[in-house]
Amino acid sequence: MSQSKCIKISDDDKGYPLEMFCIPKHYENHLSHVMIPKGLIDDRTEKLAKDIKEKLSDEPLVCLCVLKGGYKFFADLVDHLKSMNNVQNDPIPLKVDFIRLRSYVDDKSTGDVEVIGGDALHHLEGKNVLIVEDIVDTGKTMQYLLRKLQVHNPKSINVVSLLVKRTPLSVGYKPDFAGFEIPNHFVIGYALDYNEYFRDLQHVCVINEAGKLKYAS
Ligand code: HPA
Ligand code: MG
Repeated sequence: MSQSKCIKISDDDKGYPLEMFCIPKHYENHLSHVMIPKGLIDDRTEKLAKDIKEKLSDEPLVCLCVLKGGYKFFADLVDHLKSMNNVQNDPIPLKVDFIRLRSYVDDKSTGDVEVIGGDALHHLEGKNVLIVEDIVDTGKTMQYLLRKLQVHNPKSINVVSLLVKRTPLSVGYKPDFAGFEIPNHFVIGYALDYNEYFRDLQHVCVINEAGKLKYAS
């Protein structure tokens, strides 16, 4: 699978101190640092939308949001695709669809991926599908979803993930489009959660040990 280039955040990157950004008081003690501020996510997302349009232009596209963690990135990415449709020739007719998956408890993959919502898959036969994910970590979730989807014979499948984690547990899967390659930390915010907490945090941040303990399942 051909993967486009992305921004690599190095292992020794310290990110940004929390006090440089607006962080809700109740989360302050449970974060290590800001890894990717929302503004940078926005700018990178705009470019991803442009790259996607260049590769997939002309044909109708179904954007499939992987809930829940993907909802912010999905909404922002689709907004950019819509804006480009308004001002450029060759607009891409867009549909949106949703699927809900779950595989993580605490900061560990359970190894079992569950589809726990969405009836989207059988509607995708013959369609060009863009799967929109928040993060590819081990890659097992995406491999599972791709297997599930392929059964329904879509015309094409592309995957865009905002984040790709460098982890020794990776199965080697790489998405077609990626925003940032990140170090092996558990990240939260911008809709990514730890046991359902932190989705309302604006920026992508790294959780600290106190946070993992406080919000453990
Ligand atoms: N953060 C949130 N959700 C996740 C992560 C992560 O680092 N990895 C896999 N799912
Ligand atoms: Mg996800």
